[in-house]
Amino acid sequence: MKSPDLAVHWGPLRLSNPLVLSSGTHGMGEDGPRLFPPEILGAIVSKTVTVDPREGNPPPRVAETPCGMLNSIGLPNPGIDAYERDVHPRLVSLGVPVIVSIAGFTRDEYRTLAARVDRLESVAGIEVNVSCPNVERGGMVAGASPGETLAVLEAVTGETDRAVVAKLTPNVTDIVEIGQAAMEGGARMLSVINTLVGMSVDVDRRCSNLGVMTGGLSGPAIHPVGLANLWKLAKATGAPVLGGGGVVSAEGALAYLIAGASAVGIGTATFVDPFAPVHILEGIADYLERHEFASVTEVIGSLAETQADLSFPEEAC
Ligand code: SIN
Repeated sequence: MKSPDLAVHWGPLRLSNPLVLSSGTHGMGEDGPRLFPPEILGAIVSKTVTVDPREGNPPPRVAETPCGMLNSIGLPNPGIDAYERDVHPRLVSLGVPVIVSIAGFTRDEYRTLAARVDRLESVAGIEVNVSCPNVERGGMVAGASPGETLAVLEAVTGETDRAVVAKLTPNVTDIVEIGQAAMEGGARMLSVINTLVGMSVDVDRRCSNLGVMTGGLSGPAIHPVGLANLWKLAKATGAPVLGGGGVVSAEGALAYLIAGASAVGIGTATFVDPFAPVHILEGIADYLERHEFASVTEVIGSLAETQADLSFPEEAC
């Protein structure tokens, strides 16, 4: 039997396979692919870039929790000038589609960043980070409001024809409403989920394990949350959505694809196993062969849906 075809389409992007290295989990973007052949990735998302250089939040900035990791990194990065000069050429030299992640603290900053990234060569897409929980303005603050999400996406897409993806936060009541606002603002793809706001306490010292009290939870603990958000969003919006959050195995990645994800984000798993993308991709290929699928696209959105009626009988009200 021929090896299964792993290529997918995520909106206008054709990726050689569904694995996308998530922003912020591998330095500015190239740390993971130093260890394994970059071509095993469908795409790489850079660390989020801001207009000005940022030091990030005070330490400690990461803390381990059962089944997960908290981070309060605070978007440290060298700023768009240094990104353009030093980082982008290094990422492009890996030979994998590069998606540049941006975050502003005002709509104008998002606009400026979009215009700057638009003029770079070899940009597969622009990820608009409206979901970082570790900053006081922009980030999740913008992405928790449908109106502000719409305005930020309009600001970005007014400056570029590149494929724009909105990375959304799960820390909202209705992610579908936010996803619809992002698409209305001109996003062509969506990405879920960024981290869940969390906290851990050192009981001996009676203080938070993070320098800024709270942070964002990632890792296996959030996989079910990511999956539910992905499923709801893909079903309700019909948008091409990348699903991620807590993927540490081929089964975890396949669950996102089956639930309707066009591609899958891998991030925190590489902190435990730097070769996780290699193992996950091998596992996906093996699953497709065992189930006699010729292409990974055959499993996308193949989830069987139950017809449970969640309405209460009148006498129960
Ligand atoms: C950070 O730098 O604080 C993490 C990035 C993010 O959550 O978007």
